[in-house]
Amino acid sequence: MKIEEMFNKYDLKFNRDDFLQELKTRQEYIEKSLNECFEKIKGYPPLIHEAMHYALFNGGKRLRPILVLEGARLAGGNPEDVVRTACALEMIHCYSLVHDDLPAMDNDDFRRGKPTCHKVYGDAVAILVGDALLTAAFELIASNAELSGISADNVVKVIAEVSKAAGSRGMIGGQIIDLGTEGIDIDYENLQKLHQLKTGELFKASLKAGAILKDMPEDELDLLEKFSYEFGLAFQIADDILDVKGDQNLIGKPIGSDEKNNRTTYVTIFGVEKAQKLAIKRVENCFMYLGNFGKKADFLRKLALFTICRDY
Ligand code: IPE
Ligand code: IPE
Ligand code: MG
Ligand code: MG
Ligand code: MG
Repeated sequence: MKIEEMFNKYDLKFNRDDFLQELKTRQEYIEKSLNECFEKIKGYPPLIHEAMHYALFNGGKRLRPILVLEGARLAGGNPEDVVRTACALEMIHCYSLVHDDLPAMDNDDFRRGKPTCHKVYGDAVAILVGDALLTAAFELIASNAELSGISADNVVKVIAEVSKAAGSRGMIGGQIIDLGTEGIDIDYENLQKLHQLKTGELFKASLKAGAILKDMPEDELDLLEKFSYEFGLAFQIADDILDVKGDQNLIGKPIGSDEKNNRTTYVTIFGVEKAQKLAIKRVENCFMYLGNFGKKADFLRKLALFTICRDY
């Protein structure tokens, strides 16, 4: 049975091709907005901004900014009001990929179907591109306070949430544990922790950022946090499976990167089939945490399902 058919018992119409169209509309909106935001942060000197542009505009799925918009919508707000924060989260993600691909980290030559940033601009520029994208992201989040419908108090809360999620107790914490697993077998519990930090934290910060900017009450934010944790695990299990079974032409990054770097992944511990089952379980947990939001969370339900039956 196909993965999506396993979710037929839920009152949800999911067809992967239809969903890709739905996603495309949002991706195009993010593309346009990211261009506008980039206009605000670019300037002198040209080289760094050209390299930042290269790292940002290369066909990413744009899931994190889409989550920011979705958080705002679930809170009953206008997604367009939080678009600068959405673009900022994509900048943080893109910076993390530029650094992740460096020779001192995963040493990968392709990303999103194109040579990685350091392959084009050299390691030193790529390091600086990462630094610049990360700092520009906070400049953009701060500037979200200039827009009507957004309070400065909420912007401060978002800065606290995002900086923690991206930092040493969040995504960077996950990356350092990942480096530490090279050649070492880690157990299931630590693998989960690794995934939660490396991937889950930024998803969580994205979804919550949009919701916080639009005054979502704490109990609902809590549910979104729990959802994001499950979503991140499902997503990263799929990433690990794609690293083994994916089609390089579709995913646009090299297959076998984890094996090359001796990383412990869901696939090395459980094998592909069991890993897939665990991903399905995570998506069911996602659905559980969205229960209170009713039909208005259908897009998020479909997004969770998409993450485990995607081929890119
Ligand atoms: C890849 O993320 C890095 C991980 C956290 C596993 P995505 O699969 O969202 O990458 P893009 O942005 O679509 O290229
Ligand atoms: C990277 O994880 C996650 C980041 C925080 C950048 P991976 O190393 O598995 O990501 P890919 O597979 O290279 O995209
Ligand atoms: Mg890595
Ligand atoms: Mg990598
Ligand atoms: Mg990977």
